Amino acid sequence: MKVGILARYSDLLPVTAATPAVNLEEGGTPLVRLCRLEKHLDVRLYGKLEGCNPSGSFKDRGMVLAVAKALEEGKRALICASTGNTSASAAAYAASMGIPCFVLLPAGKVALGKLAQALMYGAVVVSVRGSFDRALELARTAAERTGCAMVNSVNPYRLRGQRTGAWEICEQLGDAPDWHAIPVGNAGNISAYFAGYEEFLSLGRSTHLPRMMGFQAAGAAPLVTGLPCPEPETIATAIRIGNPVSASLARAAVTNSGGEWNSVTDDEILAAQKLLASEGGVFAEPASCAPLAGLLKLKEQGCLPSGISVVMVLTGNGLKDPDTAIRNAPLSPVETGDSLDELLSVLSVPR
Ligand code: F0G
Repeated sequence: MKVGILARYSDLLPVTAATPAVNLEEGGTPLVRLCRLEKHLDVRLYGKLEGCNPSGSFKDRGMVLAVAKALEEGKRALICASTGNTSASAAAYAASMGIPCFVLLPAGKVALGKLAQALMYGAVVVSVRGSFDRALELARTAAERTGCAMVNSVNPYRLRGQRTGAWEICEQLGDAPDWHAIPVGNAGNISAYFAGYEEFLSLGRSTHLPRMMGFQAAGAAPLVTGLPCPEPETIATAIRIGNPVSASLARAAVTNSGGEWNSVTDDEILAAQKLLASEGGVFAEPASCAPLAGLLKLKEQGCLPSGISVVMVLTGNGLKDPDTAIRNAPLSPVETGDSLDELLSVLSVPR
């Protein structure tokens, strides 16, 4: 079997004989049926486990293509701004190809695991005292001045590569789902998924388009309110973005698919994260749990049709944000002495 998305989808991606074979075996992630969660929603519920990608998030799908094309074009270094996952991914691919990587992160607002990744992969990490949106402006200008390849989703290859997520879902399910539920920050991924679904439909490899359901955090919901959000704030730091660069593409995806925008509060996100882990066996980072939080809310409001198929994109691994998880975990460790009696006294085994 071909592994890595450039090899697997060489017929559908802009790769040529001159494109370097960048490959960390990204893609091919599980699409898991979440049976125990279905009782809350009365739908066929699937999670696309993007946290199983090499750097732990969906970003690897677009990054592998962006980096390959940058090398093909003779670029010698990468630059990006990030809420954490893009930087981890860029740093990983830069390391694998032996080129420098500069990452601009909003100071103090990046989950610990993501910061650890960028540092370990050897990227130059710049903590910008400002928002992600400002860091992105700076990265774009710095790319122009220095000739570094800009690997945020303003780079068109990023969104091309991210289409592969939609293709895999169609292959795994045998068709597109009825609903596609996805967290939205800078709005590139929802746009890429919709383009991927449209492409598979036009190739006759699926029979319909899913309704694109975009979920944002209430404190950073410019696409829900219709207005830029100058001071975005949410526990889901991955989607703490006030002025999404792909806003117009994302709006078109939702409108043209008969989808919807919805927002969820931080408390709803944390409750969904616990539910997904404790009843689904899947540990996803807070941003990735916005869709489940939103589906639960839509169900409560009577707005979720019974019996449909729903795919949630679980965009990033829960291990990336251990601080938030430990602060909000349902249980704490039980400490005992080192005797067997003490141990047995805390084990309540069902009979
Ligand atoms: N989920 C996670 C885990 C993310 O890291 C991001 C974006 C999103 C969802 C939203 O995707 O931006 O395409 O709408 N993270 C970017 C980053 C912004 O820098 O890592 P989007």
